[in-house]
Amino acid sequence: MKKLPEINDESSRPIGVFDSGVGGLTVVKELNRLLPNEKIIYFGDTGRVPYGNKSKETIVHYSLQVAYFLMKKKIKMLVVACNTASSVSLPTLKRHFHIPIIGVIDPGAKSAMETTRNNKVGVIGTLGTVRSNAYKKALRKIKTSVKVFQDPCPLFVHLAEDGWNRNRIAQMVADEYLKPVKKMDVDTLILGCTHYPLLKDVIQKSVGKKVVLIDSGRETAKEVKNILAKKGLLSTKKMNEKNHSIFYVSDFPHKFKEVSQRFLSKDLKHVHKVIL
Ligand code: DGL
Repeated sequence: MKKLPEINDESSRPIGVFDSGVGGLTVVKELNRLLPNEKIIYFGDTGRVPYGNKSKETIVHYSLQVAYFLMKKKIKMLVVACNTASSVSLPTLKRHFHIPIIGVIDPGAKSAMETTRNNKVGVIGTLGTVRSNAYKKALRKIKTSVKVFQDPCPLFVHLAEDGWNRNRIAQMVADEYLKPVKKMDVDTLILGCTHYPLLKDVIQKSVGKKVVLIDSGRETAKEVKNILAKKGLLSTKKMNEKNHSIFYVSDFPHKFKEVSQRFLSKDLKHVHKVIL
C-alpha cells in the first residue's frame, strides 16, 4: 500500500528552551506541569556557564548559536529561560527568527506589578541582568512611578548548582545579600535568575513572610501557554517514550544529569553532549 504523505502538523513540533546551564530546568518544570503534552528540546550551555558575568556581545553571540541549533530541530516556539540572555539577547533573536520567542523578563515584571501594593519592587539576579536594567525597564513600562531596587546575588547560582540551597551557609549568604533589599521596604521581590527558585526558602526567611516572591519561570510557562493557545499551536498528542523531551548540553552530560535531579525531581534519560 502506498504510504500517505506526512501531515505537517505544526502544533506537534517541540518547544525549544535554552539556558546557560541547568537553571532553565526550573522553567521546564513549570512547562511540564502546565503543558504535559508538549515535547521540549532543551539546550543547557554547560560548557560556557555562567553567562551572568560576561559581556553583552558574548552573551548575544552565544544566544544566537544556541538558537540556530534549536531552530534546526524544527521548534515551534523558543523560550529563552535564562534571565541574563533574556535581558540582553531578545531583540537580536527576534530579528533573526520568525517563530514566537519569549524571555523570562516581561512575564516576571507583569506578575510583580500585579502583586505590589506599595509600589516598591525588588529584583535580584546576576550581575549581567542587574546591569542591563531589563527588569527595571519592563516594570517602568507598566507603571512609570514604580520604585525598583536591584541587587546582584551571584553566589546563589553556585549554591544552587551544588545543592547547597537549604543549609546554614545558604541562609548566611542570603541574609548578607538581602540586607539592602530589606532596608528598601519592598513588598514584592522578583527572583530574576533561573537558579533562585531553588533558594526560595532561605530567601523568604531573609526578607520575611510579608514579601511576595515572584518566580519568573512560573510566569513564563503561563505566557507560553497563552501564546500557543492564541496561535492554535497547543499540542494535543500525549507524551510517551517516543516523543519524549530531549536535553542537549555543551559539556559532560553526567554532571547535568546529577544536578537536574534537584531541579526537576526526576531522572533524565536523554541528555546528549553537542558541540555548537
Ligand atoms: N541562567 C542564568 C540566569 O538566569 C544564571 C546562571 C548564569 O549566570 O549563567 O541569569
